[in-house]
Amino acid sequence: MKLLIKGGTIVDPVARRMFPGDVLISEGKIVAVGGGENLANGEIELLDASGKLVTPGLVDLHVHLREPGFEAKETIETGTRAAARGGFTSVACMPNTNPVADNKTVITYIRLRAREKGAVHVFPIGAITAGCAGRELAEMADLKEAGAVAFSDDGHCVADSGVLYRAMQYARMLGLPIIEHCEDTGLSAGGLVHEGYFSTVLGLKGIPAAAETVMVARDIILAEATGCKLHIAHVSTAGAVELVRQAKAKGLAVTAEATPHHFSLTDEAVLGFDPNTKVNPPLRSAADVQAICAGLRDGTIDVIATDHAPHAPEEKDVEYGNAPFGMVGLETAVGLVWTKLVHPGILDPIEAIAKLTINPARILGIPKGTLEAGADADLTIIDPELEAVVDPARFASKGRNTPFAGWRLKGLPVATIVGGRVVYRREAPGG
Ligand code: NCD
Ligand code: ZN
Repeated sequence: MKLLIKGGTIVDPVARRMFPGDVLISEGKIVAVGGGENLANGEIELLDASGKLVTPGLVDLHVHLREPGFEAKETIETGTRAAARGGFTSVACMPNTNPVADNKTVITYIRLRAREKGAVHVFPIGAITAGCAGRELAEMADLKEAGAVAFSDDGHCVADSGVLYRAMQYARMLGLPIIEHCEDTGLSAGGLVHEGYFSTVLGLKGIPAAAETVMVARDIILAEATGCKLHIAHVSTAGAVELVRQAKAKGLAVTAEATPHHFSLTDEAVLGFDPNTKVNPPLRSAADVQAICAGLRDGTIDVIATDHAPHAPEEKDVEYGNAPFGMVGLETAVGLVWTKLVHPGILDPIEAIAKLTINPARILGIPKGTLEAGADADLTIIDPELEAVVDPARFASKGRNTPFAGWRLKGLPVATIVGGRVVYRREAPGG
């Protein structure tokens, strides 16, 4: 069966071009991307994309699918359906499951389960250390052999510099990136929110910006010493943005991501004590948010990743101090990118799409994020003018823990295509 996506505006983040055109798909692959000529004849299904953007399928390199072990929070099935509903065709999942993805059995399980139940492609990330405990290295070569695309102890920082140094030497040898959650727990321990004016007003223990920034500095030094590819997860501080900028200027293989919540919200959002604003790293000051937007604009921050971190309602529905850190992100990401970055002119659509497609795909070394003829037919269709109010009750994710409930967002995914199959299509209106 052939599919023709007709009449849209193609966004090509590789050629850095936008142009009116059609996309022809056959047998799960992109056959041709054309500038308006008649691409197809014969037996064909049509998908009208007029007034919409047609982009490579979005890639989220930081999600928590929670399976195995925490299926009450999310499963590979529900998490990948949330991805599809959010416009993502590929997700890389973090290893802080139970058991931890620190051995090839768990990586293999995730891949098999994803093939069986997944609505989108799943690329597992292996742990850096056994149990993400920071002491002994995981079997990194085995993890790669089983299909891991990167290494991370996300949720934890690798505190021991000697351990991280050795991990980076192996990662370099294996050609995979280290994704670091940068947090000095000596500075952050016991903290609930960003340390600043609002932590003082609320009387909540703060997490200073330095808790992140010092570890970013250390990690860049170790990446330079080992030649390892280093990707900094969820950058939240102005200091971290500046350090990554300097590392790039030096030519180091350092990349960084920012989450939609860190460019959309400041720590002022904590004022109502909504546990859905509790996240690690915490929502930061207005100056930090400005620095992140500047970093997104000048290319210091390569990637927009959600850090989709679902929790069960009963876990989050407690007092602020007892709630777990994390918020869901897959189903609000595109709306926040368009509303907070594209419509205000901070990013043009090509740059925004690059940070959601080819940039994360290149960091992970996966053949995604392009519209090349012969590539897997993974595509996302976005209506930049469509507006809707965020309603967590409609989420495909089991997690409803979002601080964006009730927000009106403009610019939304309307169809998601994986391997030539439409896995999500928005029913109008409010779907
Ligand atoms: C994440 C989680 O719940 O696994 N929580 C969070 O607040 N971001 C862990 C992480 O990404 O650090
Ligand atoms: Zn993290």
